[in-house]
Amino acid sequence: MAKQYSLSNVAVIGMEWGDEGKGKITHYIAEKAYVVARFNGGNNAGHTIEANNNKTVLHLIPSGVMYSNTLNIIGNGMVVDPKALVHEINNLKKIKVSVSAENLVISENAHVILPTHIEEDKKAGGKIGTTARGIGPAYTDKAARVGLKFYEFADDALFRKRFGQEEFYSEYSGYAQQLRQFVNDTALIINSALGQNKKVVFEGAQGTLLDLDFGTYPFVTSSTATTGGICTGLGVAPKRIQSVLGVCKAYKTRVGLGPFPTEITGSIGEKIQKTGKEFGATTGRKRRVGWFDALIGKYAVMINGIDSVAITKLDVLTTVEKLKLCVAYKYKGSIIKNFTTNMKILQNCQPVYEELDGWWDDLTKIRNYDQLPNNAKKYLRRIEELLKVPISIVSVGPKKEQTIVTRPEFLV
Ligand code: GDP
Ligand code: IMO
Ligand code: MG
Repeated sequence: MAKQYSLSNVAVIGMEWGDEGKGKITHYIAEKAYVVARFNGGNNAGHTIEANNNKTVLHLIPSGVMYSNTLNIIGNGMVVDPKALVHEINNLKKIKVSVSAENLVISENAHVILPTHIEEDKKAGGKIGTTARGIGPAYTDKAARVGLKFYEFADDALFRKRFGQEEFYSEYSGYAQQLRQFVNDTALIINSALGQNKKVVFEGAQGTLLDLDFGTYPFVTSSTATTGGICTGLGVAPKRIQSVLGVCKAYKTRVGLGPFPTEITGSIGEKIQKTGKEFGATTGRKRRVGWFDALIGKYAVMINGIDSVAITKLDVLTTVEKLKLCVAYKYKGSIIKNFTTNMKILQNCQPVYEELDGWWDDLTKIRNYDQLPNNAKKYLRRIEELLKVPISIVSVGPKKEQTIVTRPEFLV
């Protein structure tokens, strides 16, 4: 008899600097979900889904949208660019994915990104290497208590009162008219679903090292990308979160500026960058590539309370003869075993590596853990040992079916 598992919700959280494959993994899990909810960030995110011979990059809409029975929630912790959202909805319609008030809800408390925020980000975001989507300035206004909430934006009298004199007003009141139908109290909706034990997936954007508090500040985003963001960004109490699935690449990448201890320069880095098609899904920028860093992994497990890990892009490492795993940092002659966000230290750390043999087999058609080459299994087992959490999913390609579930008890 098939074993029954009792989880009804799972959080999908990026363990590094974003782009770990959260979109693919969320979409995979979401097939069974009643709700998929985003809680942080905005259209700085780019979550790629490959299913039914279509490749779609979602920026604001949660990755459950491909399924007709899933309700997608844009939580209060997000900052929403109305123009980008209208554009995304229209693009989905072109590929016959319908978006209506039946399957999309925007929190009335989400904050609005206005053209002024984008202008400001374009001017000031360069020194961080932001996505120039207005994210930081919109969150700054939220914290300064001068931001525009979505319910005000959707109410023409309120929006006009504050922004009627602005050049963008008439264009944006058009977007408000189109988006009004989606605005609702999402905390009530999600808590009602949780109360009825309906399956819920919390979809993180960015990743642990881009988190405003726990990331490599100042080279971070302006929201809470870690598990705690679910509580503040959706109105879900901490004790309600049943399982946390950390998503982590089999190697590391980073877009934008900031320290990256295991960064690989030279031909191996270029090879992985090319094979992994490591270009940003939002800005198209080349992603920097590095070896697996167990210090980052352990740190992400601790900060997020990760119960199990989805390892993505294992297929990309095929034909890399020797794989390096960073197990410690050397700093001024001493050994550090824990990740640090103290930039003064991190910038001057040298990685200490273990080396494992690679494999030559193509993994992209493998659907069963036992069929993975021995050296790939050894690599995965070593990661489990170092992180002290089980791997529940191994991803061997961008497509939904290129997914091996090893521990279903950690998923919904
Ligand atoms: P996200 O922001 O975390 O959702 O990740 P992105 O979509 O920005 O970047 C991940 C990229 O890797 C996308 O192009 C995915 O289609 C692709 N991808 C995801 N999982 C795998 C995998 O297991 N193997 C390969 N080769 N590509 C993958
Ligand atoms: P997903 O959800 C990768 C990075 C930017 C920059 C820093 C700050 O697709 O994983 P911001 O525009 O947020 O103020 O930029 O954060 N960044 C991401 N990198 N994936 C993302 O999202 C990112 N969102 C922001 O490149 O370094
Ligand atoms: Mg991305």
